[in-house]
Amino acid sequence: MTLAIIGGTGLTQIAELNIVEHCDLDTPFGKPSAPFLRAELNGVPLIFLARHGNPHRIPPHKINYRANIWGLKQLGAKQIIGVAAVGGIGAAMAPSVIAIPDQLIDYSYGREHTFFADDLEHVTHIDFTLPYAQALRERILTAAKLAQIDVIAHGTYACTQGPRLETAAEIKRLANDGCDLVGMTGMPEAALAKELELDYANISVIANWGAGLIEGEITMEEIEKNLESGMQKAISLLKSIATLNA
Ligand code: HPA
Repeated sequence: MTLAIIGGTGLTQIAELNIVEHCDLDTPFGKPSAPFLRAELNGVPLIFLARHGNPHRIPPHKINYRANIWGLKQLGAKQIIGVAAVGGIGAAMAPSVIAIPDQLIDYSYGREHTFFADDLEHVTHIDFTLPYAQALRERILTAAKLAQIDVIAHGTYACTQGPRLETAAEIKRLANDGCDLVGMTGMPEAALAKELELDYANISVIANWGAGLIEGEITMEEIEKNLESGMQKAISLLKSIATLNA
């Protein structure tokens, strides 16, 4: 089962990857964020893609999600793990913590969000009751246990439009809606993977408390500092997952 990793903010590259090949693909939907890397992690082959490009330059609402997911399918990926920096909303979702969400709510807009738009023989709807592949989530949780990495095994991810962070009132509303985590890239990525029948799961690395949950403004310095330690844990987790996947 070929595994693909989409790295988000703070994970543009993984030093531990042994890169075998750069695949510069074009797709019917345009250019992906970056060349796909065929690589090995702990000796296990996988595909890596930098969601925001390398260097980190494509904002969340400008990412060509369709080209990214289409390209991964073309290259033979069967499972995709999207790693994402997020804000924490739920009480346990503190900076540097890792959570594996089991639900999501999409608040983004104006993004190319489906493959089922043009030249259809019939209108197509996918089931999205469970947005994340349960077996892949379980594999991530097992890998975390084996590597003794603490993760929160659930959570509802809110996908906002960005690139600005939220207002305090928006975070309050997301909390009222039952959201535990807030990020800007989880959708349409998850739905597009499901449309192409790829297993998809998310590793959320918490960079900061959501706006207004603690006093003061959210600074990029704070986000970067928390992501440094959070992403180190995420890389250890990915290594454990790759080994389990082999
Ligand atoms: N909100 C949305 N996306 C984010 C945040 C946030 O607070 N932190 C990191 N990505």
